[in-house]
Amino acid sequence: MARTPIIAGNWKMNKMPDEADAFVRELTPLIATWDNVERVVAPTFLALSAVASALRDAPIKVAAQDAHWEANGAYTAQVSAAMLAPYVEYVIIGHSECRAYLGESDENVNRKAQAILAAGLKSIIAVGESLAQNETGETVPFVRSQVRAALDGIAPGYMANVVIAYEPIWAIGSGKSASGELADNIIKTAVRDTLADLYGRDIAAAVRIQYGGSVKPANMEEFMAQPNIDGALVGGASLDVDDFAALVDIASRVKGR
Ligand code: 13P
Repeated sequence: MARTPIIAGNWKMNKMPDEADAFVRELTPLIATWDNVERVVAPTFLALSAVASALRDAPIKVAAQDAHWEANGAYTAQVSAAMLAPYVEYVIIGHSECRAYLGESDENVNRKAQAILAAGLKSIIAVGESLAQNETGETVPFVRSQVRAALDGIAPGYMANVVIAYEPIWAIGSGKSASGELADNIIKTAVRDTLADLYGRDIAAAVRIQYGGSVKPANMEEFMAQPNIDGALVGGASLDVDDFAALVDIASRVKGR
């Protein structure tokens, strides 16, 4: 089944609203014509309003980097999916930095997924193993368990609004990416096969799965050439206009539809 590739720039804790606004205004004409690729930027909460306004008529979608599972209430420092809905189409959850530094649990990732989908938004759910888990051969069972936990109770009808991002923690920001073949193999056995167990082959074949971890123009082609990799969740390289445009260009050329 042909899947439209999705390239998402996770800006993490970078770019003030004016910088984010200037960035997307510069980026838009560079990637406007590649409409066989879904293009997404994920600014900080602070810059979401500015970026959403700047991109109102542009073919680039906006994502938030997190969302709380309750709609509102006494949850200091949190922003709910319902509050994000006017600004974003996607919400990234389960990022390894949130899991490592903010105590994000599988259970909370699941609560967030339920709330995001119920609010009519789409979710990019990040999973991935640590270096120690990788070296001791635990990658596949661990990633499988993350996928199962994140999707617990999510009805099949919502799966069109779910993207899974496989990001091995040891590859994030390290300059050390997985090889395309290795990443494809994990994505197939740990993610797509788990989706098939949970939802059947047709849904598993339709869900898009990104690779993330030190993706840059120099290695993008290798990832995009893999049969199970449907795009990338990009940190560092997405902060550079030319690199971001190059990533979209490569995705469009290698597997755009
Ligand atoms: P880098 O592309 O900087 O390795 O970050 C990947 C990432 O964490 C995207 O969510």
